[in-house]
Amino acid sequence: MRRIDQLSRALGAIAPAGVSIAAGTIDIDDSRFLHADERRAFDGANAARLAAGGAVRALARELLEVHGVAAPVIGRTPFGAPVWPKGMVGSLAHDETTAVAAIARADRIALLGIDAEPAEPLPEEVWDLVLDPRDRWRDALFKAPDRIAFCAKEAVYKAVHPVIGRVLDYDDIRVDLPSLAALTASGHRLSLRIHESTEIVVIAFAEADVSGR
Ligand SMILES: CC(C)(COP(=O)(O)OP(=O)(O)OC[C@H]1O[C@@H](n2cnc3c(N)ncnc32)[C@H](O)[C@@H]1OP(=O)(O)O)[C@@H](O)C(=O)NCCC(=O)NCCS
Repeated sequence: MRRIDQLSRALGAIAPAGVSIAAGTIDIDDSRFLHADERRAFDGANAARLAAGGAVRALARELLEVHGVAAPVIGRTPFGAPVWPKGMVGSLAHDETTAVAAIARADRIALLGIDAEPAEPLPEEVWDLVLDPRDRWRDALFKAPDRIAFCAKEAVYKAVHPVIGRVLDYDDIRVDLPSLAALTASGHRLSLRIHESTEIVVIAFAEADVSGR
């Protein structure tokens, strides 16, 4: 795993305050970054999947170190959600070549999800599955707004699922790209941050309630 400086800088520029975020390459020998306990959670995975899991964990560990937090093992729940050290929240994503990780302290950020997608239009045959007339995405000033809406729903899912413990369908998540906002059927409101270049990356987050109520 090598940091991708340009994408990491671009993501850092859109990241909400308190969120550390970075992108890195996935190299075929990156499975070496998986600790034995992590590797057990990837039982049956092929070499490419192990490499992606290793690369994204190496990246996340670097980000955690900046927060002064050691994380020898970033495990997975039975649903596949990453398990973070106490007091931290985070999210991971990877495609064939690129890994992205986002980390924050739980006393600043309550919900955090990230997803990465190739910057290509979503095949029209999946529009009905993913998009709903109540989603606002067509009027957004993006080259592939349909793909961004899909990416946003996946980022929202990753942020909310570990908290509610139940699977959300695409239809359970409303996205409003012009307002950079999302709302889930579970009642969670999230803000969105969107990066679009050759790669689409969406960060979904909700700040922690610091009012003390
Ligand atoms: C999580 C999910 C939405 C996207 O995963 P994906 O596109 O296959 O893969 P990505 O590279 O984007 O993300 C993979 C990472 O997501 C994270 N992840 C997986 N399941 C997760 C969950 N339930 N909650 C939070 N994060 C999760 C993991 O860190 C994983 O990396 P790892 O396996 O190396 O630890 C999908 O796998 C899933 O679980 N879908 C079931 C429910 C669904 O599809 N609902 C509609 C979506 S809105």
